[in-house]
Amino acid sequence: MDEIVINGGKSLAGEVAISGAKNAALPMIAASILTGGVFSFSNVPALKDIKTILALISCLGAEVSREEDTAVIDTSNLSVFEAPYDLVRQMRASILVLGPLLARLKKARVSLPGGCAIGARPINLHLKGLARLGADIKLEHGYVEASADRLVGDEIFFDIPTVTGTENLMMAATLAKGTTVLRNAAREPEIVALADMLNNMGAEISDAGTPAITIRGVEGLNPVSAEIIPDRIEAGTYMVAGALTQGRVLIKDCEPDHLKAVISKLREAGADVSVSGKNIEVHGNTPIKSIDIKTLPYPGFPTDMQAQFMVLMAVAGGLSVISETVFENRFIHVSELKRMGTDIAISGSHAMVKGGKRLSGAPVMATDLRASASLVLAGLVAEGTTRISRIYHLDRGYERLEEKFSGLGADIRRVPGGGA
Ligand code: EPU
Repeated sequence: MDEIVINGGKSLAGEVAISGAKNAALPMIAASILTGGVFSFSNVPALKDIKTILALISCLGAEVSREEDTAVIDTSNLSVFEAPYDLVRQMRASILVLGPLLARLKKARVSLPGGCAIGARPINLHLKGLARLGADIKLEHGYVEASADRLVGDEIFFDIPTVTGTENLMMAATLAKGTTVLRNAAREPEIVALADMLNNMGAEISDAGTPAITIRGVEGLNPVSAEIIPDRIEAGTYMVAGALTQGRVLIKDCEPDHLKAVISKLREAGADVSVSGKNIEVHGNTPIKSIDIKTLPYPGFPTDMQAQFMVLMAVAGGLSVISETVFENRFIHVSELKRMGTDIAISGSHAMVKGGKRLSGAPVMATDLRASASLVLAGLVAEGTTRISRIYHLDRGYERLEEKFSGLGADIRRVPGGGA
């Protein structure tokens, strides 16, 4: 298995261009199931999760081709309604095909996603919502089996704002009879991007990006071309890298409006952050201060940035309390970070991070996508060499990571097969 090897201690400087957002591309590609025809997606990142959703959609009968950052999908002959275990177990977001399959083919059989390193991550709210739209739902042999001659619009109240749950229901409701209102809906920019694409296809969705989304069902949809929005979590990760290494990093082609919470927290921690159009510059010219962080659904501070900020707090000037409220088990990076000299104590959903530590390079193991990003950041600022194994987690969500960090002056390389 490949490893990432980092010799830490370099201050990062230069420019980095942000790729398309994985978490926007996944539901948008799933939305192409809703109608037959040729869809074209641009700014699609080259990531393992994108390969998985494309493999899944081709297994449903679509024709898929990729060239550079464009993916063309012809869903004219899509007729298979089963998402098999082998693909779903590779990526939980495969559940995003459930709503569109049900809306187009009137039935769907999707393997239940299994356990997950960051929490139980049930899909009960997806299923409850679809049942409310009139779907008959059964759980059998490890699969969700859903059927409905035609879904019927209704009011759905989510107990918790769920990102993929909101996306699944929004897609399913586009072809339902009548109007659906999603209440306590998730408000992430990826939901707005999906709604924009669906509206271009002929759907009638209003107020995406607010907690109450209205979807007026239509009789049919058309294929479209769509561009994937920039990845706000990738951008946030490079922003933290700039502050952490006391560097000067220009993050290009991002969407600063989607990063308000991250920008605000970096400024509170003492980093100099300036925004100009689609660019953000982070200048880590002053010592980092300890701040408290609480993860929340958007527009709150993203759970997907929690691990990266924890590294920043590990080298900051005082004591920081990081509270994770979105997932119940998202501190798995802590045990690996401790091996690099951090001082972090966990109590329930809070992590107490004692700053002022000099991190030291060590062999560490990636455990999930964002945890892996935190190990890379720790390696960049640590003294000596850090070897990160199980980096397939990173390949799920960070495009050309070692190339981008090298471009900023980091001493980082991928070692194939784990050899020296
Ligand atoms: N939840 C339920 N029942 C449900 C659905 C969710 O209890 O039916 C709970 C979850 O267990 C969790 C909370 O609701 O405690 C929020 O989960 P959500 O459903 O919003 O998460 P998700 O849709 O599975 C997406 C991103 C994640 C990101 C979360 C939170 C995609 C493909 N994934 O997951 O991204 O952390 O929203 O913002 O959009 C990542 O990119 O590394 C990643 C994990």
